[in-house]
Amino acid sequence: MKRFVYSPPSQKTTMPTREITRTSKITSYSGESIDPNVAELIEEAKKAAQQAYAPYSRFLVGAALKLKNGKIIRGNNQENAAYPSGLCAERVACFAAKSQFPNEPIEMIAIVAKNATADHYKLATPCGSCRQSMSEYENHQESSIKLYLLGDDGQVYESESIENLLPFKFSDKNLKND
Ligand code: THU
Repeated sequence: MKRFVYSPPSQKTTMPTREITRTSKITSYSGESIDPNVAELIEEAKKAAQQAYAPYSRFLVGAALKLKNGKIIRGNNQENAAYPSGLCAERVACFAAKSQFPNEPIEMIAIVAKNATADHYKLATPCGSCRQSMSEYENHQESSIKLYLLGDDGQVYESESIENLLPFKFSDKNLKND
């Protein structure tokens, strides 16, 4: 992202142009190096995916999140004949969790996806709207939400936070009237 200083044509500015770079880090694990707590959450996400309501895309997505109190909440994609009325698995899970346990921080979220007719899972990185929704909770709870994605060959991808996947995010800071 390049930062230019805007000023009306009549005014001169001395501020230089700056380049701001953000990087995202993803770690990949497989086999024995996968934490048992993460493996458990992925199994929960698989259960959720099996129960997805996806008659239009036939793309089953499951999300499972763990709260600080140890509770695991599942969600899956819910589609609709009026397509935009549907909702992704991640938001179904987050909204369910935050409506039942509003003050309980989310520690981690696992996401799996597969085509209904396929016999293997397929890496699905969360869409922009889901990143924005998860980021809201991460900001509010002031602690990172770890994200785990199941890859095509059984490997697990980890992002240490939602922020890591949503550089230059919009947040409550942008709304401040200062
Ligand atoms: N979907 C999710 O559930 N999560 C995502 O992050 C991306 C997409 C769902 C929405 C829709 O039901 C189907 O996958 C195909 O886009």
